[in-house]
This record gives sequence, structure tokens and C-alpha cells, in this order.
Amino acid sequence: MSSAVVIPAAGLGLRLGGETPKAFREVGGDSLLVHAVRGLKAATAADLVCFVVAVPPGSEETVGKELTPYVGDARLIVVAGGAERPASVRAALDVVPIDGIDCILVHDAARAFVPADAIERVVAAVRAGAEAVVPVVPVTDTIKRVGPTGDVVDTPDRSTLVAVQTPQGFAPDVLRRAHAAGADAAVTDDAMMCERIGVTVRTVEGSPDAFKVTRPQDLLLAEALLAERRI
Ligand code: C5P
Repeated sequence: MSSAVVIPAAGLGLRLGGETPKAFREVGGDSLLVHAVRGLKAATAADLVCFVVAVPPGSEETVGKELTPYVGDARLIVVAGGAERPASVRAALDVVPIDGIDCILVHDAARAFVPADAIERVVAAVRAGAEAVVPVVPVTDTIKRVGPTGDVVDTPDRSTLVAVQTPQGFAPDVLRRAHAAGADAAVTDDAMMCERIGVTVRTVEGSPDAFKVTRPQDLLLAEALLAERRI
């Protein structure tokens, strides 16, 4: 069987600053999106036959030309993203082919440096029967819940908390059902949409390298990571 990957890359990246949308910011001479696509392609166990990328409206053609050299013989479809992440994923999901795909990955362009073994763990768990799978890493900060005034309500036991990354992996019909149920402003990932329709989400080990480029200092970390990999 084969997998398809949906890549939401339509965010403006306001927290990162600058004029260029986040997925097109460059690290080591290539955009975050190119790094993300290359990383996915290198994870051979993912058997990726189709890449669907959601980009800022108007940039579909340019991005299509930029990514074509990196997808090999896989199919590449570039669509206009939406105003929020779930809308971008939905637009991409709508054009993922149905036949022959047993796993759909959803991967943030901003997590450009996820290593192949983390991707492969996600795909393996879906193929082993999980309906929804997320890669996770331990939380290092103490996390507190706060109320509307900013005062602390309580402190969840840190040993029960994990930080969630992408790619997240799904049985295709489950992801489609989750998106058909709709999203609201509180939705921050696709696994959460699956939880809402009663699907059990399984965790696998993620990677510190799969951090999300969000703030300017993350670009420095990304440059350092890339330099280390190129040694
Ligand atoms: O903003 P945040 O870092 O949470 O975005 C995660 C991913 O979702 C990024 O790759 C971003 O490009 C994508 N996104 C999108 N469409 C939006 C907002 C975010 O594809 N409207």
C-alpha cells in the first residue's frame, strides 16, 4: 500500500516576523518547505506516492515549480490554503486520491527537519492498525492552567504531559470523517479533530529535531542543526 502527505504551508508566520510567509523562509539556502518535502521523501518506509501542499493563494504555480525536483516520481498537487490551518488541511485533503492509499500523513511545513525514523514510526503504527497517530516528546517546562484573570487554576502532573509534533498519521477514512465534522477556533491539530469524533489517538516517539520553526531564534537553531547534519 502507499501513503499520501498533506502539507499545510499557507500560514503567514506572524510570530516569525519578516515579509515572507513562513514556509518560504530560507535556511541553508533552501525554503523550510523544500526541507520538509526532502525529509519526507527520504523516509522510504513512508512509501509516499502523493504530496498535496496548501500554500498562500496565488503562489500555487511558483511553489509547484519549486517543489517538482524534490518529489521524484510521486504526484505533486498544490492548492490554495485557507484562513486557518484546519481549512488549509481540508483544502488539501479534498484532492488526495482515494484509491490505493492506506495512510495519510499531515505534516507542518514549519517542522522542516523531522528525521526519517520519526516519520517511519508514525507510518508503521498506522499500518499496524492505529486510526490516528501522533509523534510526541516529553514536556520539559512545568505547565500550568490559567483562568481568564491570568491566575493559576492548577498544575497538571508533568509526567502525564507530552508535546505533540507532526507528521501525524491517519487511516484515510478517519481523517476525512474528522474534517467532515468541522473545526472551530480551538482546533490546533488534526489528531484533536479525531479525538472529538471518538477516535483513539496513539502516540509514538517523536524527535527534538522536529521542532516547529515559530520564532526568530528557531531559525538560528535550524541553521545550526543543518550545519551539523552537513558535517
Ligand atoms: O502557525 P502555525 O505555526 O501553528 O502553523 C503550523 C503550520 O500550518 C505551518 O506549516 C503553516 O504554514 C500552516 N498553516 C496553514 N494555513 C494557515 C495557517 C497555518 O497552512 N491558515
